[in-house]
Amino acid sequence: MGKKKTAIYPGSFDPLTNGHIDIIERALDIFDEVVIAVLHNPSKKALFTMEERVAMIRESFNGERSVIVDSFGGLLVDYAKMRKAVAIIRGMRAVSDFENEFQMALMNRKLNKEVQSVFLMTGFRWIFTSSSIIKEAAQFGGDISDMVPEAVKLKLMEKYPKMRS
Ligand code: PNS
Repeated sequence: MGKKKTAIYPGSFDPLTNGHIDIIERALDIFDEVVIAVLHNPSKKALFTMEERVAMIRESFNGERSVIVDSFGGLLVDYAKMRKAVAIIRGMRAVSDFENEFQMALMNRKLNKEVQSVFLMTGFRWIFTSSSIIKEAAQFGGDISDMVPEAVKLKLMEKYPKMRS
């Protein structure tokens, strides 16, 4: 039997969106296992706590054996090595994502040449979605219910009672 190929999908996931899910599903077509790794970054103010973010992701992938949900701190390449991952997955929506992603990928390659960065395109439906724009719309009562999984929608409604569904 061949060696299991693991990929890491890192991010803030504040919160998980259907755009992220689209990328994870595409990654599962290529890799045997995807580790969704939520960055623990005390200096970045998040809407949801680490525990809430991890719980929402776990709920959304309930029963999916090829998906592992975890959190990490420090360097991504160190975490990838610890997980014996062969790739880091990042989603690309538009050209505007490119510069930052290119810089991160080259830095990661400098830090560890053995982990490849793999960029996947989201489906057209999710081209304009991001966690930040979804939070902003939800905060002011916008209906974003078809842009996030059910577990996230319910948590957003708790934070933003004005949110329509
Ligand atoms: O969802 P995000 O906020 O775009 O994810 C950014 C993330 C978590 C991928 C990036 O900040 C990261 O990898 N942080 C870990 C620290 C690190 O390894 N930095 C050096 C490479 S840029």
